[in-house]
Amino acid sequence: MARKKIALIGAGNIGGTLAHIAAQKELGDIVLFDVVDGVPQGKALDLSQCGPVEGFDAKITGTNDYADIAGADVIIVTAGVPRKPGMSRDDLLGINLKVMKAVGEGIKAHAPDAFVICITNPLDAMVWALREFSGLPHEKVVGMAGVLDSARFSTFLAQEFGVSIRDVNTFVLGGHGDTMVPVVQYSTVNGIPVPDLVKMGLSTQEKIDAIVTRTRGGGGEIVGLLKTGSAFYAPAASGIAMAEAYLNDQKRILPVAAYVSGEYGVDGLYVGVPAVIGAGGVEKIVEIELDEEAKGNLQVSVDAVKELLVACKGIDESLA
Ligand code: APR
Repeated sequence: MARKKIALIGAGNIGGTLAHIAAQKELGDIVLFDVVDGVPQGKALDLSQCGPVEGFDAKITGTNDYADIAGADVIIVTAGVPRKPGMSRDDLLGINLKVMKAVGEGIKAHAPDAFVICITNPLDAMVWALREFSGLPHEKVVGMAGVLDSARFSTFLAQEFGVSIRDVNTFVLGGHGDTMVPVVQYSTVNGIPVPDLVKMGLSTQEKIDAIVTRTRGGGGEIVGLLKTGSAFYAPAASGIAMAEAYLNDQKRILPVAAYVSGEYGVDGLYVGVPAVIGAGGVEKIVEIELDEEAKGNLQVSVDAVKELLVACKGIDESLA
């Protein structure tokens, strides 16, 4: 069987980290694409030279030509600009929408059979626009946000309870912004729901509320510390988990930005929901029962995503 091919559109901080993890895991041969001449080529060469040291066998190439992504099984998109301190993800809309148009057209022309994972922000609007511009089936285009947001939530809960991160399972619904919905009711430590742990006196409601707030602002906290860009290690690790679920037909239930048509009372947009990811892409959206508070929060988040789509349509008429 031929090796799998992973194309990474955007060879910046996340793109380079994606390439490194994909190579270490030998997911396939890797093509790094960027508009800047030399950067994808230089990173590809540098990463290739990790192979002898780390013992991985993967061909890594850099390019400025979309023709080189032909035949890709998975494409992960990080092209665009990241946030600076004081910016919200939504501030990136105008610039990154233009980037999504170029990327979508490149994918449509050269790799229409790929499974596409978008990481570029503002995520829920960009993944929608990328799908529109590429014309790929909705189940083959997905956004990475929930895996990362859940990872942040899990990290903070493991620290709070003083337990191994392996035993913490959380998930976060809604848009990838300040209105995201960390669902406490379905977050567990080795199967024990967080509300029960609070009842057992292992934490307090105030502390859990503070963790929810910190999770919502988790990306901004890192932007504030880095000052020159946004998080990249955990976003890359999260994108790779989604790529593996597809490539290995794992049927994992992951929180992803998926196209919803009726589920959760939402229609015709991308938003963070739990979904089964396997060889068919997004194979099923899992509709869990939410309490009234979570339902209300999800609606606020959906409304925020809707506003961004209106803004996209205002900027690019072909989307209207
Ligand atoms: N086509 C391809 N690549 C592009 C394009 C384009 N039209 N425009 C910009 N790029 C490239 C840049 O040259 C840069 O190498 O995208 C890369 C982005 O890399 P970084 O600036 O390092 O940003 P990164 O931290 O990787 O984040 C990328 O992911 O999480 C989101 O908010 C983040 O939108 C941002 C994206």
